[in-house]
Amino acid sequence: MFGSLKALPADPILGLLAKYREDSNPQKIDLGVGVYKDEAGHTAILKCVKTAEKHRNDTEDTKVYIGPTGSPLFNDEMSKLIFGDHKVLSENRARTVSTPGGTGALRVAAEFIKSCKAGATIWVSNPTWANHTGLFEAAGLTVKTYPYYDHENKCLDFDGMLAALKEVSADDAVLLHACCHNPSGMDLNQEQWQQVTEVAKDIGFLPVVDMAYQGFGTGLDEDAAGLRLLANNVEEMVVCSSCSKNFGLYRERIGATTIIGKSSTAIDIAYSVLLSVVRVIYSMPPAHGAALVETILSSDELRSQWHQELAEMRNRINGNRQIIVDKLIENGVERDFSFITRQNGMFSFLGITPEQVQRLQDEFSIYMVGSSRMSIAGIAKSNVDYLAQSIAKVL
Ligand code: LMR
Repeated sequence: MFGSLKALPADPILGLLAKYREDSNPQKIDLGVGVYKDEAGHTAILKCVKTAEKHRNDTEDTKVYIGPTGSPLFNDEMSKLIFGDHKVLSENRARTVSTPGGTGALRVAAEFIKSCKAGATIWVSNPTWANHTGLFEAAGLTVKTYPYYDHENKCLDFDGMLAALKEVSADDAVLLHACCHNPSGMDLNQEQWQQVTEVAKDIGFLPVVDMAYQGFGTGLDEDAAGLRLLANNVEEMVVCSSCSKNFGLYRERIGATTIIGKSSTAIDIAYSVLLSVVRVIYSMPPAHGAALVETILSSDELRSQWHQELAEMRNRINGNRQIIVDKLIENGVERDFSFITRQNGMFSFLGITPEQVQRLQDEFSIYMVGSSRMSIAGIAKSNVDYLAQSIAKVL
């Protein structure tokens, strides 16, 4: 059976991790995978997570099955984090299940959409997270793209996006990034969300919102403002969220899929299908990460500590955006990189060629995705001079 297989190349994002680890250059810089790092290049466990973990150790008294939906308390807290005091919650039109990470949330969403309509089409931004296309296709969806990032002018191609969305059919799904667009860092402003909302409402396509970075853009509520606006105006919607980045729970694999329906009766029917989707993929989600998140979100003290730690991560990344732009100027680079300061979240495209990306890797041990997507969190005061000098050399 296995004899017919052909070896596949390493994943364009995860493959960089292995290469980076093997590199013995003490000056190496990891701007690859979207993982938060502190000034020392370390991805520490959040203090609020440490406390929640101790509490969990002291109080957990069973390892019995949790069921396909995951922990009800986690699901409840997550839906409040996503929607605040939104009417979809008071109208009882939302249902959330815990999932194995954000990728699990997306896969569950994809399988659910397939249950609604076999072979459905989902539109994704061009560009989008490298795993979106493969993940949706693996679930049997057809993937099409709408214009999003204007590489030439380093800005949003909003006219192109809107024009393409107007051609989408009512039976299709459209994937939108809630905030911190991965890979471009280019987000919709509230006025643009309004226009997208109007198109979604007019056509009636299913919005699927991927929120992997809530709190990394401007703030927890601010980052969810676009999807809340959308939820005010459409009858059905899917939200996939992740606790990997904002709680730093990467390896615990905890995220959530939330579906919104026309009424509480309609959503109960949809929810029964969602649970059957979960059952045949992985039966039930891992419980540990969810227990930590629910402990933090349901304690005033831990929640406020989390807000503080999240703000620290966000502010450091935003600070890095200005620092790298200034350092490039200081190193005589004439090309305008100021667009980096107008983008949000973990990523921006540097906007250099794949050959230049490769040179950065081969000659300077600087690792970023081939598209020149760089993880801004990997920049630190200790490496930014070397980084700017290296970029100046390959330019
Ligand atoms: C990324 O885009 O780097 C992260 O979301 C990690 C991943 O799984 O690709």
